[in-house]
Amino acid sequence: NEKIPNTITGRTRIYGILADPIYHVKTPQVMAEVFRRHGLDAVLIPFHVKPARLGSLISGLSAMENFGGFITTVPHKSAMLDLCDDVTDEARHIGAVNCVRREADGRMIGTMLDGLGFVIALTNLTGFNPRGKAAYVAGAGGAACAMAFALADAGVRRLTIANRTPDKAQALAARLRHVHPELELSTDAGSVADHDLVVNGTSLGMNPEDRPPLDFSMLSPDQVVADAIMDPVMTPLLKAAEAKGCRIQRGLPMLQCQIELMARHMGAIE
Ligand code: ATR
Repeated sequence: NEKIPNTITGRTRIYGILADPIYHVKTPQVMAEVFRRHGLDAVLIPFHVKPARLGSLISGLSAMENFGGFITTVPHKSAMLDLCDDVTDEARHIGAVNCVRREADGRMIGTMLDGLGFVIALTNLTGFNPRGKAAYVAGAGGAACAMAFALADAGVRRLTIANRTPDKAQALAARLRHVHPELELSTDAGSVADHDLVVNGTSLGMNPEDRPPLDFSMLSPDQVVADAIMDPVMTPLLKAAEAKGCRIQRGLPMLQCQIELMARHMGAIE
């Protein structure tokens, strides 16, 4: 687009990503592509901020008139919930914020798009529609919680939450039941066999020496298997599922499918 200057100017709209560490973030490049595609004079800048000073950064950003919003990632997602002036239902239910819009008056409006990104990626790439289905989610931490809520929002009929620490699975189930009283919920790890969708929301699979997050031998070819882990691209679970003939969903598309949602929440695109 010839109207867009190839440098930042006084008219450029500024966005950010807040993280600690920051060196590994890919969002600036990925969002630059979205801005270019939409013909926007905008830039997304990495901000390296330590948890103790997150609040003072947010006050500063609130005062910045040419600032449109920001993305939060590790370790700021939970802390950001209380630093927003208002949050969406998704952020409130999950207890974390990963994208914030700065309104014209400086108010910060947070949302949580991890779960929706996961469901959109799943539907677009495997053709799986969660409505009326049974899903098994291993884990009860941040990632598992976002995926479980998004699956419930997308209409799964039955949900099993299996976690090493049963108390955390029960606490997540109680929060899900509160928002989705119609959902059939179980926290009995049992078998993955009678589920249409099997999801790993634990961190097991990041390191080669990790034990399996669930019993691979129980997978069958009619199941869809998803992993939230992005690195490695193919986890032991995904390899086992592929060998069984299951449709699989890698972790990275969950992030890729979010980028337009984030640009929209920050008001960069319609
Ligand atoms: P994230 O934000 O990436 O989801 P998290 O909130 O720390 O990270 O959650 C990590 C998840 O992986 C939890 O469900 C955790 O189980 P516990 O609640 O029992 O801690 C799970 N997890 C991590 N290491 C594990 C291990 N060695 N065995 C079983 N589960 C594990």
